[in-house]
Amino acid sequence: MFEIKAKDNRGRVGVLKTNSGDVKTPNLMPVIHPRKQTIDVKKYGADIVITNAYLIYKDEDLKKKAAEIGLHKLINFDGPIMTDSGSFQLSVYGDVDITNKEVIEFQELIKTDIGTSLDIPTAPFVTREKAEADLEITLKRAKESIDYRNSQNMEMKLNSVVQGSTFPDLRRKCADELTKLDADLYPIGAVVPLMESYHYKELVDVVMNSVAHLPDSKPRHLMGAGHPMIFALAVAMGCDLFDSAAYILYAEDDRLLSVRGTYKLENLQEMPCSCEVCCNYTPDDLRAMPKEKRRDLIAQHNLNVSFAELRLIRQAIYEGSLMELVEERCRAHPNLLEALRQLGNYSDDLEKYDPRSKKSAFFYTGSESLYRSEVLRHIQKLRAMPRKRDLVILPPSRKPYSKYVSGKLGKFYIYGSEQELDLDNTDFMVLDIPFGLIPLEIDEIYPLSQNESPRTWDVSSLEFIEDFISEFVEYYDQVLIHSNVIKKLDIGLYNVHSQSDEIRYKKDDLKKVKAIADYQFGVGAGDALFRGNINIEKSKKTGKIRHIYDGKTLIVNMRASDSFLILSKEGAKRLHAATKYPKNRVVVNKDSEPFSLEGKSVFAKFVIECDDDIRAKDEVLIVNEEDKLLAYGKALLGACEIMDFQTGQAIKTRKGMK
Ligand code: GUN
Ligand code: ZN
Repeated sequence: MFEIKAKDNRGRVGVLKTNSGDVKTPNLMPVIHPRKQTIDVKKYGADIVITNAYLIYKDEDLKKKAAEIGLHKLINFDGPIMTDSGSFQLSVYGDVDITNKEVIEFQELIKTDIGTSLDIPTAPFVTREKAEADLEITLKRAKESIDYRNSQNMEMKLNSVVQGSTFPDLRRKCADELTKLDADLYPIGAVVPLMESYHYKELVDVVMNSVAHLPDSKPRHLMGAGHPMIFALAVAMGCDLFDSAAYILYAEDDRLLSVRGTYKLENLQEMPCSCEVCCNYTPDDLRAMPKEKRRDLIAQHNLNVSFAELRLIRQAIYEGSLMELVEERCRAHPNLLEALRQLGNYSDDLEKYDPRSKKSAFFYTGSESLYRSEVLRHIQKLRAMPRKRDLVILPPSRKPYSKYVSGKLGKFYIYGSEQELDLDNTDFMVLDIPFGLIPLEIDEIYPLSQNESPRTWDVSSLEFIEDFISEFVEYYDQVLIHSNVIKKLDIGLYNVHSQSDEIRYKKDDLKKVKAIADYQFGVGAGDALFRGNINIEKSKKTGKIRHIYDGKTLIVNMRASDSFLILSKEGAKRLHAATKYPKNRVVVNKDSEPFSLEGKSVFAKFVIECDDDIRAKDEVLIVNEEDKLLAYGKALLGACEIMDFQTGQAIKTRKGMK
């Protein structure tokens, strides 16, 4: 019932399928009041809404009507409807007149698309005893709901809400337990008090500890989140749905939502956006209006900005610029900036979900960018790379650096021993922000060339790079640092004890493609792929490497946009022979073997194992359990998702081996 169409970090553009239609995610479900609703949210872009089953149940008249004509007619919305269970009323009034079983039964009766069990929203910062006691009830009710729904063959989908207050381990435990229940959607509950009090840092801990233990194949819903200021951050953490009454509650209070925060009408000289409300009315017009008309117009604006932000977020996911948007949005409030920094502590987790290549370049927007997946991933790759004896560190020039490093390189300072520099035994790397050191051979691979940062370096980036380099260079016998680098940095100077002559970096295409293969597929892949009578063909127009052959047999193509190597049949065979199971591999079951051999794409449900290091957009080998090579192709999802999904495509096969 959920499929991923595009990814960026933990953010995903997906499709949620319900009996009342499909919904593109991330999306916002405006809260519909079953009696007081004055705004037609569908007209302003709502694809799915949420309403409260408990409020309907408590109102004799509505209850009767809902049972007769169904929820969709009752609230006059023919798209998908989610219902909440009264848990929020429980958290406000301390009690509700309905049992868990009754609310499940009632939601099915009125034909909701997605129902919710009666979870207990445990407030933040309560005692551990309280959080544990509440959690036990929430888990019991979640299980009861699913069992009941299944035993009665109910049609509706079910939410199981993650609780656990602000205890990360309880959130993890809750998510683990709910995952076993196999619910259809996973809301993250009791976050409203955190958002209302601007505790965004704690929100990051709550959300990250929840999502990391939830299945990737189910949508997650950040319950009660309706301020567009936090949508981008929440989506980057893996949230797919938002719901809120904020659009109308704020409007009642003459407050206008915006991605930069909230504006009070009384303080507005100018309308804050370019939606039809803001274009057609001035703040004075609104102030002069009768209350109800004003409220509805402000609510309309609030919905407009919320849906506009969600469109922008989905576009950012498609193009791979979600983190740039998050970094921008998190400058709207210091507590959001704090949250963004907190997210940096989860970069190992985000990296697992982040595609290896993106359409848009990596933009450095501040020191927080240093904690992004791309940087972490590059530094891990560098650490794992075999090193030559000596290292030359060059200053950044235009990109790709290797194209512009030639001729005189100026002065070098040598520290370590005084032996001569042997060019065949030397690594050449450019020092730059944010990727630290970039080996010249691989500098064209995404994102090492496809990135922009200011030419002047800020203190945090300098510290980051100095720390990394001091550790990294220890393994070299001799490190030569270009004088322009020395000027920029405060590293290793105490070790300098002589100067070298000018040094030339000798470009070598074979070394370059081997280094790219090692970086992309793992150390050793370069030697395995590029043996024999290697013939490197370049584009006449750009001079870039395009095809690599052994004699007349194509081994790989090099993709112009990101310099990743795309395997041919021969390339797949060579890579397969040279690397060990399950490296670079997706293992499919017996049933799908003939389809793979014919070159049909691989569906997630046929995958029985895969290399943990596979990320979306990676070139992968498709094998059977005996490690027979069946086909090769491009991963559409990361390893975690490939293993978790039971529907949809996992690998777009390029060719079968038949
Ligand atoms: N609405 C806002 N927060 C919550 C929550 O924690 N649980 C439920 N069921 N609804 C909510
Ligand atoms: Zn507006």
